[in-house]
Amino acid sequence: MEKINDYLCKYKGHIFLVGMTTAEHIDSLQNFEIRDSDVFLVTYPKSGTIWAQNIILSIFESDDTDETKSENNLEKMPWLEFPQGNSDYSSRPSPRLFASHLKPALMPPGLKDKKAKIVYVARNPKDNVVSYFHFSHVLVSLETPKSFEDFLQQYLAGNVGASSWFDHIQEWHTHRDEYNILFLTYEDMVMDLRSAVVKIAQFLGRDLSEAVLSRIIEKATFKNMKKDCKANYEFIPEDVLQKGTFLRKGIIGDWKNNFTVAQNEIFDKVYQERMKDFPYKFIWTMT
Ligand code: A3P
Repeated sequence: MEKINDYLCKYKGHIFLVGMTTAEHIDSLQNFEIRDSDVFLVTYPKSGTIWAQNIILSIFESDDTDETKSENNLEKMPWLEFPQGNSDYSSRPSPRLFASHLKPALMPPGLKDKKAKIVYVARNPKDNVVSYFHFSHVLVSLETPKSFEDFLQQYLAGNVGASSWFDHIQEWHTHRDEYNILFLTYEDMVMDLRSAVVKIAQFLGRDLSEAVLSRIIEKATFKNMKKDCKANYEFIPEDVLQKGTFLRKGIIGDWKNNFTVAQNEIFDKVYQERMKDFPYKFIWTMT
């Protein structure tokens, strides 16, 4: 891995946080044996990953209401690219569930058989950068930004963990026909959580009764997830992540509280240049 600074390193064009993974582990993913029943949740950081993770897990656990089980959501849906404990997942029962921030080129090639499923969640990049900025103050392995202005410049240049938001979404979208993939946005989830859950469940081939659907939605609201210690990542030790900070505001449009007019103009210009051919129109404010 090529070190960029004390916090970031680069391997095969992707920026990782120092100490989170190794070149050997990333290379090993090229031989990772995919099962048809595998499900991958893929996001750019701060796009609603742990929210979608909670929903997918609830959908698979919909027949099982035993709340006493001790595994947290990270253990139930581990990160593909970050080896944790025993990362030999070959003995895991199906369906195996994984989360990832990787771009297509580093993912296991077996996903191109189009049997295993990928749920991709994107978030409008103005709220995304604000969320990432705040998170950089509470996760010890991220450099504390000098200012929002400075972080914004780094973000637009793609000099942050998981590289450029623009590359991430463009690459996944360009390669979408090579995968069995469902595209969703964070904004879809905020505006209509019920429809988003139904869409995910249908994609995963799970038929949910109205009662189960309501239970999943209730469990996934911001208020309830914030109190759910298996879902809210409070289990991460406090010397790594400040407690209670993964769920911060959970809204659309917080960028308006952070961007200056000049920053917004620069952002819009870059967005027009990088996303001019992108067919999806993001929602930037709550109506
Ligand atoms: P904010 O920082 O804007 O509040 P990730 O899981 O990819 O790191 O994304 C974190 C973002 O998702 C945070 O955004 C967090 O508040 C938001 N989020 C997590 N759970 C949520 C929920 N149940 N409802 C709405 N937003 C949620």
